[in-house]
Amino acid sequence: MNILDMASTAGHVLPEKYKTMSVEDMGKAVQNIKQRMGNRLYIPGHHYQREEVIRFSDVTGDSLQLAQLSAQNREADYIVFCGVHFMAETADILTEEGQTVILPDMRAGCSMADMANIAQTERAWTKLQELFGDTILPLTYVNSTAAIKAFVGKNGGATVTSSNAQEMVSWALEQKERILFLPDQHLGRNTAFDIGIPLNEMAVYDPHKEELIYEGELEDMKVLLWKGHCSVHENFTTANVEALRKEQPAMNIIVHPECRREVVALSDYAGSTSYIIDMIEKAEAGTAWAIGTEMNLVKRLIAKNPDKNIISLNPNMCPCLTMNRIDLPHLLWALESIEQGTIINPIKVERSIADNAILALNRMLERV
Ligand code: 13P
Ligand code: SF4
Repeated sequence: MNILDMASTAGHVLPEKYKTMSVEDMGKAVQNIKQRMGNRLYIPGHHYQREEVIRFSDVTGDSLQLAQLSAQNREADYIVFCGVHFMAETADILTEEGQTVILPDMRAGCSMADMANIAQTERAWTKLQELFGDTILPLTYVNSTAAIKAFVGKNGGATVTSSNAQEMVSWALEQKERILFLPDQHLGRNTAFDIGIPLNEMAVYDPHKEELIYEGELEDMKVLLWKGHCSVHENFTTANVEALRKEQPAMNIIVHPECRREVVALSDYAGSTSYIIDMIEKAEAGTAWAIGTEMNLVKRLIAKNPDKNIISLNPNMCPCLTMNRIDLPHLLWALESIEQGTIINPIKVERSIADNAILALNRMLERV
């Protein structure tokens, strides 16, 4: 289901009541429900969530950690996922039948995940099999729909996250001669480059033109990158890096591997959300950091590390719009709906899809 389909489903319109309540009252109400429900309720929160929401989450993490934590939690009846749609789908796939996963706002999709749909993927696969025969293993970033994960699982592949991409790409290239990496070309390219694959052995598959773009000999292509990207991380540019190097040469530049290759190449450090948090937390007092990742997280790192000079690599950066859909009113609405027995926005992945998607997820989870 893409963002437009989700927005058109019934039940997504926030009732008036939550628009007029004070932040204080909403906070108290959330706290009271958490107390009443105890372990029956579990609220995981991704690091890119707003502060007003993350302060009520039981655990915070990046995509990999939240997937692992969801897989481990067997006691909660309700998992109210503060993140985006693909994360809630992953949680549903990894939890027990009787556990209900809820996304407080169905409009919290991911523009990157929407850049690959299952029909495009199946057409691409047929075309790529014609070109390369049975030499390709599909890998999908977890930032993809459950249907894509199922496709990958059915074809022997696995999911990856930004914190285990190197291990997973290396593993995939031990299984088959080449990989198809969906849907983020930048994470795929940066990861393959880091493990020693030259850029001239990487091709880009354009799902709209249905063609493979490459230079050199077709049979030399080892990494087939889906032409998708993160609309947040693509906003960090080489111009940002160059301006900063000129104005503040002492700044360390650290970016997420969803940024373009050229930006990663010019930066000092690149790694997943958890890697960035870890680097900043361990950095010496007085050091200076320009961070190329989502703005809610950068703001939180600034607040938590007053002894360091931290800025965003792009001075005009905004938070991820879809992550930001989950706000305090939607969180409270979701929690009250549980108590009232009129659950809003449950995320339920069809059994036939979940059965194949779990193959792809488990191939990752058993390796990292
Ligand atoms: P990670 O949590 O794997 O770093 O992914 C970043 C992201 O863009 C999540 O949507
Ligand atoms: Fe999707 Fe990028 Fe937002 Fe993550 S930060 S949810 S990849 S659009």
